[in-house]
Amino acid sequence: MISVFGSMVGEEEIRNVKECMESQWMGFGGNVSKFEDKFCKKFGHANFAMVDSGSNALYMAVVLLDLPMGSEIILPSYTWVSCAQAVLLAGHVPVFCDVDIETMNVRDIDVEAQVTEKTGAVMVVDYAGLPVEIEPIKDLGFPVIEDAAHAVYSTHKGLPCGALADVSIYSFDAVKNLTTGEGGGITAKRDELITRAKTLRYCGIGKSGFDAAVSDAKKSIRWWEYNIQEPFIKMLPTNMAAAIGLAQLDKIDTLQDTRKKIWDTYQAEFGEVDWITTPVDVDAGDRHSYFTYCIRVPSRDDLAHYLLDNGIYTTLRYHPLHMNPLYKQMDKRLPNSEKLNQDALSIPIHPRLSEEDVRKIIQIIKDFI
Ligand SMILES: Cc1ncc(COP(=O)(O)O)c(C=O)c1O
Repeated sequence: MISVFGSMVGEEEIRNVKECMESQWMGFGGNVSKFEDKFCKKFGHANFAMVDSGSNALYMAVVLLDLPMGSEIILPSYTWVSCAQAVLLAGHVPVFCDVDIETMNVRDIDVEAQVTEKTGAVMVVDYAGLPVEIEPIKDLGFPVIEDAAHAVYSTHKGLPCGALADVSIYSFDAVKNLTTGEGGGITAKRDELITRAKTLRYCGIGKSGFDAAVSDAKKSIRWWEYNIQEPFIKMLPTNMAAAIGLAQLDKIDTLQDTRKKIWDTYQAEFGEVDWITTPVDVDAGDRHSYFTYCIRVPSRDDLAHYLLDNGIYTTLRYHPLHMNPLYKQMDKRLPNSEKLNQDALSIPIHPRLSEEDVRKIIQIIKDFI
């Protein structure tokens, strides 16, 4: 079966993880700050805190905004469930908006349609790795969270995605462009938010066992003491995850070249097929991460089943959240998200695909009709 998503690890990740295990320090440790520094240098961030998942980073991002309890946060319906769960768990109200049918990203007009006197913030997603047109959204005057889970490597007007908003997050889960097995990260316009994030991620203490026992012990008489600064849960990333991430950072350019090559081949091949709507390309000067290749087709379900029967796994990213009863917004009409729910399909794009896989995928799809 050809998988729809995948990361690629090799000898370098195995060596780093082995070293980490041999050091007998597998939990939070020195590799985390090494990864954070290297990530900042690679992508040009002023600050960055690694955490244990993109989902938890989203929750932390919402908390960092310090909104009045019960504030409404406007976010796309066409996104991963963690976005809305983070809002709810932080004591706020997710208010879903539509996306543009072509970019599959939120526009200012989509957000504006949902603004009320309770609106406290906006959450945007760089869907598939295509940078969101964030400037007009920022002009609406609310704090903005950027979910750049898909957009490690994407850039917009010279800035890395993940540095476009007040607070931004990344995911490094097992299928992301840059994987740490599971993991996430958070960046912010204001450095003090990331200082706070580094305190929050260890139960609001800010001083991990590693800090207390290894790196900081000589700095105080009773190094085991700590102040609990805020109520929070544990989101510490592991030394092992950071070890994988360090190796991934060395090879991300090559991994991205492979993704781009597959994307360009699909665009050329499917651009000629009249029943397939291909995804839009990135604006000149911006950079795409090519996390997912999402086509739109009539008879989407039939195509998905036909591909599965032919050994090709596909998926819909994502079933619109407003259609889920949990959020009690099923009466809302968001026509573009609902249309995408009918005709969008993500087909395989990842660095483990061989040229033969790509040729097979193209041929089988073209033979569908
Ligand atoms: C848009 C989006 N946001 C957040 C996340 C959550 O990231 P994680 O899987 O690291 O928790 C995902 C995961 O796929 C995602 O697609």
